[in-house]
Amino acid sequence: MKQKKLLYAGKAKSVYHTDVDRKLIVEFRDDITAFDGGKKDVLMNKGSYNAEVSAFLFEYLMKNGVKTHFVSMIDPRHMVVRELEMIPLEVIVRNVAAGSIVRNYPFKEGTKLDPPVIVIDFKDDARHDPMLNDDLIVALKLASPAELKKIKKVALKINQLLFALLAAQGITLVDFKIEFGRQGKSICLGDEISMDSMRLWDKKSGESLDKDVYRFEKGDVMATYNRVAQRITKSAKKR
Ligand code: CDP
Repeated sequence: MKQKKLLYAGKAKSVYHTDVDRKLIVEFRDDITAFDGGKKDVLMNKGSYNAEVSAFLFEYLMKNGVKTHFVSMIDPRHMVVRELEMIPLEVIVRNVAAGSIVRNYPFKEGTKLDPPVIVIDFKDDARHDPMLNDDLIVALKLASPAELKKIKKVALKINQLLFALLAAQGITLVDFKIEFGRQGKSICLGDEISMDSMRLWDKKSGESLDKDVYRFEKGDVMATYNRVAQRITKSAKKR
């Protein structure tokens, strides 16, 4: 497969056309950003740690009946995916209160959210990703009511699967963000699932094992990403 023209460059990934119909290549770059792009750095190997974890989690989800865009890895930072018509929603599933939900609402950090709370933001950088509700999503024609119902159902299934996998590695899945796209009539998981898009806490120590280490300068970001990638993908080999 040959990499062709750039289709889209985001804050941490670039997406390329290929010479194969309806297949794209996602490049996981070493760029890391936080606070709406307000903090930026390049951290060596970050892209490959996130790609490794994303590929692993996509495969795990697919084995468990979740449709994803993942096809294969070309090298440690280049992933082949099926082309989707992306839906500009950031679907966040929360099991424990942390981050913006604690800043914006009277939740105490660390409060268990049972049942999990789904929050959907509009993926629109210029508007700083405002939170949506079902009526706004339908009125803006971002998704049909049936698609929205499906998206929420799949998001909760993904949450159950990831929560169990990570718990077995002594990791609490506090929250995570996913994005979906359409492939024909079906809804398919796209984007990535990585330390940039999940909030992970060590079950025993409570230590952050994700991008919060970068956001709040809690330690060596790449040492943490490396350790977490090992911990998550090792669970694979045992399963
Ligand atoms: O990270 P922050 O506290 O600002 O936002 P949040 O709403 O608490 O984020 C919830 C989860 O979604 C965290 O795991 C974030 O890393 C992730 N997220 C993301 O990956 N991309 C975004 N644009 C927003 C949130």
